[in-house]
Amino acid sequence: MTTSSIGSDAAVPQAVGAAAASVWGDETTIAAAAVALASRRISKPSDPKTTARPASELLADAGQTVTPEGLGADEALRIFEDVFAPATRAQDDPMNLAYVPAAPTRAALAFDAVVSSYNIFAGTWESGAGAVFAENQALAWLVELLSWPKTAGGCFVAGGTTGNLSALVTARQFARNQLGRHPVGQWRLACTPQAHSSVLAAASVLDAEVVVVPENEQGQMTGEALRATLMKSRDVFAVVASAGTTNAGVIDDLAGVANICERFGAWFHVDGAYGGAALAAPSVRNLFNGIERADSFIVDPHKWLFATYDCCALLYRQPELARAAHAQKAGYLDAIDREVWNPWDYGVHLTRRARGLPFWFSLATHGTNRYAAAIEQTLATARAVAQGIQAIPQLSLLAEPTLSVVLFERPGWDDLAYRRWSRRLALEGRILCIPTLWRGRTALRLAFVNPATEADRVLEVLAETTQDPDPS
Ligand SMILES: Cc1ncc(COP(=O)(O)O)c(C=O)c1O
Repeated sequence: MTTSSIGSDAAVPQAVGAAAASVWGDETTIAAAAVALASRRISKPSDPKTTARPASELLADAGQTVTPEGLGADEALRIFEDVFAPATRAQDDPMNLAYVPAAPTRAALAFDAVVSSYNIFAGTWESGAGAVFAENQALAWLVELLSWPKTAGGCFVAGGTTGNLSALVTARQFARNQLGRHPVGQWRLACTPQAHSSVLAAASVLDAEVVVVPENEQGQMTGEALRATLMKSRDVFAVVASAGTTNAGVIDDLAGVANICERFGAWFHVDGAYGGAALAAPSVRNLFNGIERADSFIVDPHKWLFATYDCCALLYRQPELARAAHAQKAGYLDAIDREVWNPWDYGVHLTRRARGLPFWFSLATHGTNRYAAAIEQTLATARAVAQGIQAIPQLSLLAEPTLSVVLFERPGWDDLAYRRWSRRLALEGRILCIPTLWRGRTALRLAFVNPATEADRVLEVLAETTQDPDPS
C-alpha cells in the first residue's frame, strides 16, 4: 500500500530539485501564492468596471517593477492583483457584448492554469504525444461537425489571423505546385468586403492581390457573384468565404461558393473564427450547407466555444497539403519522426504550447451535448434581444440576426451621441456595446457568445438608457 505524500513537507521541494532551488531559492510559497490567486480569480465573478488606464497612472501606482534585486512574489502579486489586472477588461462579463467577447467555462480557465504548469512542448508528437492526442480528439469533434472525412486534421494556432494566414499559405503552395510556376502578375485571392481584416492582412503577407466579390443585399457572397468575378479575374488561387461575419454574423452561400470553387479549381477556405461554433447548433446548422466541401476551415474556440485565449482550431480536408507547405527542414530537425502527427507541420509556427487543451478539457468535462445547448442558448438570447428591441419605441432593429450579432440604431442620435452613450455605460459597468458601421451608417452592435447573458437585463438597460435624445 502506498501512502499519499500530499501535505507532507518533503513533497514539493524535492520535486523542484536542489539545483534549481540554489538559483531561485525555494519557490514553493511563490507557486502556492500564484496558484491561489488563479483560483480566487476563477471562482470570482468578473468586474465589468475594470478598464484600461493611461500608462502614466499605472506607473504612478505600480512603480518600476523590474529591478535588479526583484520585488519578491508577494509584492509582485499584489501589484498585479491591485493595479495591473483591474486595468484589463473583463472579456467574459455577461454584459460585455462588444467586438467578439469571450465566455470561457470555469473548467477551461482552471485547466489553462494546469496546462501552464506542465509547460508541454506541443510542436511535435515526440515531445507532446498525450497533449496532441487530446487536442486531436477535440479537433475530431469539429471535423465531424463539418461532415468532413475522418482523415481531415490540423492543429491549434494562436488566433484566427494566424489560422487564416496558415490556411492561405497552404492554398498558395498547392496552387504553385499545380501551376508549376509563378502566375503572370500577382497571386490573387477572392473575398467580399465583409471578410475579416485578417484576410486582407494575410493577402498582404502573401503579396497577393485581393479580388473583391460584391456581396448581395444580405451581405453574403453568392455562387453567382463569385462566378462573375472569377470569369473576369483568372488565376485566383483561393476563395475565402465567411461563416459568420464579425460585423453582422452573416454566413456566405457556402454551397454556391463550393460549386464555383470546384469549377474554377480554386481553394475553398472558410473563415468561421466567430460563427463556426454554431455548426454545433441544430437550429442553424443548415445555414452552413456546403461547408462539407471546403478545403480548409478555422474557428476560434476562444470566441464562442467557451475556451480561453488564445486558441484557433485550423483544419484541412487534406492535411498532407498543409504539411507540404509548412513543414520546416533543418539538420537538427532530421531526427524527428515525420510519420506521426506533428502539429508544427500545419501552421505558421514551430514551438507551440498545447493551447487546445483548455478547450479539450472543457469539452471532455461537459460533453458535446452541453456545448450544443450553450450555443443554442446564446442564439436564443440574441433572438430575444432582437425581438425586444422592436418593442422599444426609440430603437430600431436593422436586421434579423443570422447568428448571435444584433444590429440596431437609435434614430436621432449622431456618431458623437452613440460614442458618448457607449462610453458612459462602459464606465458605469452596465453594458459594453460599441457602435459600428453598417451599410454606411452608424449603428449599435451586440455580439452574444455568453450563455450567462440575460436578454431581459440587456433590454432593460437599452430601454432605460436610450430615451434621452442627447445621451451626454
Ligand atoms: C471572422 C473573423 N475572422 C478572423 C478573426 C481574427 O481572429 P483573431 O483575433 O483570433 O486573430 C476574427 C476576430 O474577431 C473574426 O471575427
